[in-house]
Amino acid sequence: MADKKRILTGDRPTGRLHLGHYVGSIENRLRLQDEYECYFIIADLHTLTTKPRKDDIDALRSFVSEMVADYLAVGIDPGRSTIYLQSAVHAVYEMNLFFEMLVTLPRLTRLPSIKDMARAANFEDEAIPLGLIGYPVLQAADILMPRAHLVPVGKENESHVEITREIARRFNTYYGEVFPVPEVLIGDVPILVGTDGQAKMSKSLDNAIYLSDDEKTVDNKVRGMYTDPKRVRADIPGTVEGNPVFAYHDAFNPDKDEVEDLKTRYREGKVGDVEVKQKLSRCLDNFLEPIRDRRSDIVAQSGYVEHVIYEGTQRVQEIAHQTVTDMKKAMGLAGLWNRISRKGRDYAKKVAPSS
Ligand code: TRP
Repeated sequence: MADKKRILTGDRPTGRLHLGHYVGSIENRLRLQDEYECYFIIADLHTLTTKPRKDDIDALRSFVSEMVADYLAVGIDPGRSTIYLQSAVHAVYEMNLFFEMLVTLPRLTRLPSIKDMARAANFEDEAIPLGLIGYPVLQAADILMPRAHLVPVGKENESHVEITREIARRFNTYYGEVFPVPEVLIGDVPILVGTDGQAKMSKSLDNAIYLSDDEKTVDNKVRGMYTDPKRVRADIPGTVEGNPVFAYHDAFNPDKDEVEDLKTRYREGKVGDVEVKQKLSRCLDNFLEPIRDRRSDIVAQSGYVEHVIYEGTQRVQEIAHQTVTDMKKAMGLAGLWNRISRKGRDYAKKVAPSS
């Protein structure tokens, strides 16, 4: 047990999880759940970087439960893995501050991911909060808190893990070896296209299929999916590359021969979109049905999701405290305070020996 390597990864609680989350990172989490000691963060502090208002924070309550219900429904096992709430782990706030000293502002402002998030939040360049620019620094604190070795994430988080690696190396160089330098692990489908053909499946673009969608909803979404727009009739040869319907077949149809057959016939103008979509609906449904069933069992047990988060967070609070203690020791801050408090106490004894 003790010699297992550690994984840390997770998501901002923005509601239910979709297929993009699944192929980007969750699939890897499930696969590695036995091999590694796993920590899954509910990154509520990170949501504040673009949504800091009271209303936004109030909305987190249901988003957190929805997301963790999805985690448990897909098969993250709280008996083996730790799920925790970021904002309840105060030591991470301290780590964040120390790490801010180890990275430059231009390194962060140049990141396309920060620009993308600012754009999505409708922030003008001059109105980007410091906290959003510091997003990857806080993420580094999350990752280094349990001294993780591996970080399975979607492609859009790759640069943040690179920042984490730089911070870990710099910390170790300045103060001595405290952190492993973590590796990134990108999912099989680094970025899943949306049902509308846009580059990325996302809740805010309204082009997502959720892990909790029912059969009818999935079927409707698949029927409405964007395909090759040149193909107004089934006998016109179609394009498979970049076609979302085939991207989803590649990701979710376990019958590879069927996928190849459909692709061949599509290219030759020998299969209709309807058939390709019907087959996709069927395999998405096979994939989602057991997840849906488990989810309804979980949601039926009122308080269970919160119980899982509570236990996990308590465990992580101890680990985080230990890490910050070790950091302060390595940095000499613990020694500074120890010396001052010792002398300060001795002085009080000297002046008023009886008290
Ligand atoms: N940045 C992740 C996202 O896109 C959430 C996150 C916060 C995270 N801290 C992390 C992911 C640490 C992996 C590791 O939602």
